Amino acid sequence: MESLEMFCQKRGCLYGFIVLLIFTLSFTWYSIEVPPWHPTFLSSCKMEIPNKASLLHDLKEVKLQRMLYEKPNAVKPPRTDVLMMTPWFAPIVWNSTYDINILNAQFHQRGVRIGLTVFAIKKYVVFIKTFIETAEKFFMVGHKVNYYIFTDRVEEVRQHNFTLSEGRQLVILGVPAYKRWQEVSMRRMEMIHNQTYERFANEIDYLVCVDVDMRFSDDVGVEILSDLFGTFHPSYYGAPRTHYTYERRPESAACIPEDEGDFYYAGGFFGGNVVEVFKLTHFCHNAMLSDTAKNIEARWHDESYLNNYFVYHKPTKILSPEYLWDNNFAVPEILKRRRFVAVPKNHNEIRN
Ligand SMILES: *[C@@H]1O[C@H](CO)[C@@H](O)[C@H](O)[C@H]1NC(C)=O
Ligand SMILES: *[C@@H]1O[C@H](CO)[C@@H](O)[C@H](O)[C@H]1NC(C)=O
Ligand SMILES: *[C@@H]1O[C@H](CO)[C@@H](O)[C@H](O)[C@H]1NC(C)=O
Repeated sequence: MESLEMFCQKRGCLYGFIVLLIFTLSFTWYSIEVPPWHPTFLSSCKMEIPNKASLLHDLKEVKLQRMLYEKPNAVKPPRTDVLMMTPWFAPIVWNSTYDINILNAQFHQRGVRIGLTVFAIKKYVVFIKTFIETAEKFFMVGHKVNYYIFTDRVEEVRQHNFTLSEGRQLVILGVPAYKRWQEVSMRRMEMIHNQTYERFANEIDYLVCVDVDMRFSDDVGVEILSDLFGTFHPSYYGAPRTHYTYERRPESAACIPEDEGDFYYAGGFFGGNVVEVFKLTHFCHNAMLSDTAKNIEARWHDESYLNNYFVYHKPTKILSPEYLWDNNFAVPEILKRRRFVAVPKNHNEIRN
């Protein structure tokens, strides 16, 4: 009797324990597996949703500042002495046509990162000091900037120990030195193109590609940024088509017929977002290779291919000659600022 009672108690205990165990396990399983099941399923089916959703979430967090400035006037253009818009609706950037405070607010909101590429190859390394020092004063002040210096003289560039403002970095990229200056110039497209995979796609949003034998002498800011931009060559912005020094030989991949073309763009200042610059440099490099195979060297090297590209892939913004000037030229009335100017040099001495 006593042993049966004990047996029942023990058995009851055992059953109770088993029931409790099953209950606990199933409850735990339920509480672990079931509640997260629904969202997990959704997000694994549609991989795009979490990113876009978090992007929208971030956008909601942005607090708009008060923005105080003079109201734009719909019936009075800020300038009437220059073309401010191309026939394909790309703005042309002249002073007084934009408000830098509005643009700075927009680009800060997006947190853009800007890359500035420059080639300090062979003797051109002498220009790097002035270039970087003046860029620190005038180029994209207050924004995130990476300088990419392509050079065959890595140590000489490093020796400068440049001190940069916050949010700015300097990357020195070692490259080969081609023999002829024409080839050095043309190979820039390939070098920019190659670095797109390696770096640019991960590190920056916009690329600005310029000549090194220059100095900044006034503000160059986010007003220049757009998907794809080029710059009027300071010698030809007022010239007729026939005066443009486009490549004209039909067998060249850079050829532009006499009755085509909008402007003559300078090889020394172009850019855009990383994808557009990738496409542009890809075209220019391959066109150069196909010409080289035919023993053709385009009239103005990389500049000739750039001009050809821009005829058929219109830039979404164009910079006025304020952004590329030479102080040897008489300054016309329309030129209110000279922001990026050539450093005087002896061409033969530097190139060879
Ligand atoms: C350049 O434009 C700004 C406004 O954007 C204006 O305040 C300034 O006077 C202009 N400079 C010249 C020299 O016209
Ligand atoms: C840069 O730093 C190196 C090593 O510290 C030094 O030898 C060199 O003189 C410095 N260069 C300049 C221009 O200050
Ligand atoms: C660019 O990349 C290609 C393919 O990796 C390579 O063959 C070529 O030498 C590179 N060019 C330069 C100038 O670094």
